[in-house]
Amino acid sequence: MAPQQHIWRATVLTLFPEMFPGPLGVSLAGRALVSGLWALDARDIRESAGDRHRSVDDTPAGGGPGMVLRADVLAKAIDTADVSPDRPRLLMSPRGRPLTQLQVAELVAGPGPLIVCGRFEGVDQRVIEARGLEEVSIGDYVLSGGEIAAMALIDACVRLLPGVMGKAESGADESFSDSLLEYPQYTRPQNFEGRPIPDILLSGDHAKVAAWRRAEAEALTRARRPDLLAARGNQKSPKDTTNG
Ligand code: ADE
Repeated sequence: MAPQQHIWRATVLTLFPEMFPGPLGVSLAGRALVSGLWALDARDIRESAGDRHRSVDDTPAGGGPGMVLRADVLAKAIDTADVSPDRPRLLMSPRGRPLTQLQVAELVAGPGPLIVCGRFEGVDQRVIEARGLEEVSIGDYVLSGGEIAAMALIDACVRLLPGVMGKAESGADESFSDSLLEYPQYTRPQNFEGRPIPDILLSGDHAKVAAWRRAEAEALTRARRPDLLAARGNQKSPKDTTNG
């Protein structure tokens, strides 16, 4: 018999575990969660608070606004989550490296991450270093906490897990799969408010359709994301690392 494969698991440390599964409990990710294709473990950081008041944060050393998540409380939360050292440990933070489709594919190929959701002004730097947390950002804007960012990251991973997407939803042609944005899509009606579907898509000539889509994807990427084109060739394709 084949060895029992461990199921891909996201362990989330948060002050608001009630936010989960949230949107991850519906649609594609939700169905996959119910059918056991992945697992979600949302844990309350506050359970690791030592004092009577269950305080998890304190004022920043050196002064300044806001509150900082305590190193000892978060370290205990990480240690009691009992994650094996081969699981990536991420901290959602606007200071982090921007999440890419390549990193998503790498996370999918592993056992699944431990994700710390930051709140307040930040997290004590010493626990980031002591527990090897890798800071990840989902974009150059500031959310009120890491939970929504964690959900975005988990959603991007789960849809790539084997068995989650049907053939019809296959991600092979989608944006970023070849460092290109996705070509435009059309469906019925054939004429919408005087805008017809491009003739070539109705021609039945698969080679011409593929060439047209490629040209459209390149033009769109050139106009909107020239940085993606510039980076092409310098990096591995996300397709190289997925196991789905
Ligand atoms: N927490 C707050 N803002 C964030 C962002 N842009 N990415 C990840 N985590 C965050």
